[in-house]
Amino acid sequence: MKVLTLITSPRKHGYTKQIVDRLTIGIKDNDGTNEVLFMDDFNIQHCTACRACEKGGGCVLDDDYNLIMDKIREADYFIFTAPIYYNDIAGYSKMFLDRLGSCNYDPELTIPETKALLMITHMSTNINPFVIENTHRCLATGNFKVNKILDIGNLMVDGKLEEFELEDYEDIGYELEEYEIIPHKLDLDSATL
Ligand SMILES: Cc1cc2nc3c(=O)[nH]c(=O)nc-3n(C[C@H](O)[C@H](O)[C@H](O)COP(=O)(O)O)c2cc1C
Repeated sequence: MKVLTLITSPRKHGYTKQIVDRLTIGIKDNDGTNEVLFMDDFNIQHCTACRACEKGGGCVLDDDYNLIMDKIREADYFIFTAPIYYNDIAGYSKMFLDRLGSCNYDPELTIPETKALLMITHMSTNINPFVIENTHRCLATGNFKVNKILDIGNLMVDGKLEEFELEDYEDIGYELEEYEIIPHKLDLDSATL
């Protein structure tokens, strides 16, 4: 299985990366590959709400977004990671999701149904469940079928994750394809979320 991971935390050696590394071990143990991209390495602009995408042809912004989307289209599985900043996903993470709908108006660009893992990292004991639901919904807008959600909180400030906990992520990486698709609970057609 060919996996593509997009890390939207700018921290190259942060918690997210440590956990992704363990997922990668599991993916490789199951004869798969995992290409890991840091969004920070790419030039991705904000959606300008020009709505040109509604005429087909994708997003008109000339940046690296389409490059990442091409890689996603070539992958069998997508991992999207987002850190929590001020009780919501980071602006940088949202910036990517805001551009997702632009592919939906052109059959040649629409992402084939792709299973996905959503990973949220934060320091708190818990976060508002709406944040996870809404991020799940945003991924569904891009045709992703989320089949695993990792809500990873209680991260320690000393940068260490417990070894026993990290080993669990290797197992999850191994089993990625096997999880059942999780239906999102927010109505995609509803204007009032
Ligand atoms: C600007 C900023 C705001 C943050 N706000 C929160 C918060 O509201 N709740 C929380 O639990 N953690 C918060 N954090 C901690 C991050 O969620 C945490 O450092 C991050 O998820 C760890 O992942 P990383 O090491 O891969 O970046 C914040 C961090 C930053 C930089």
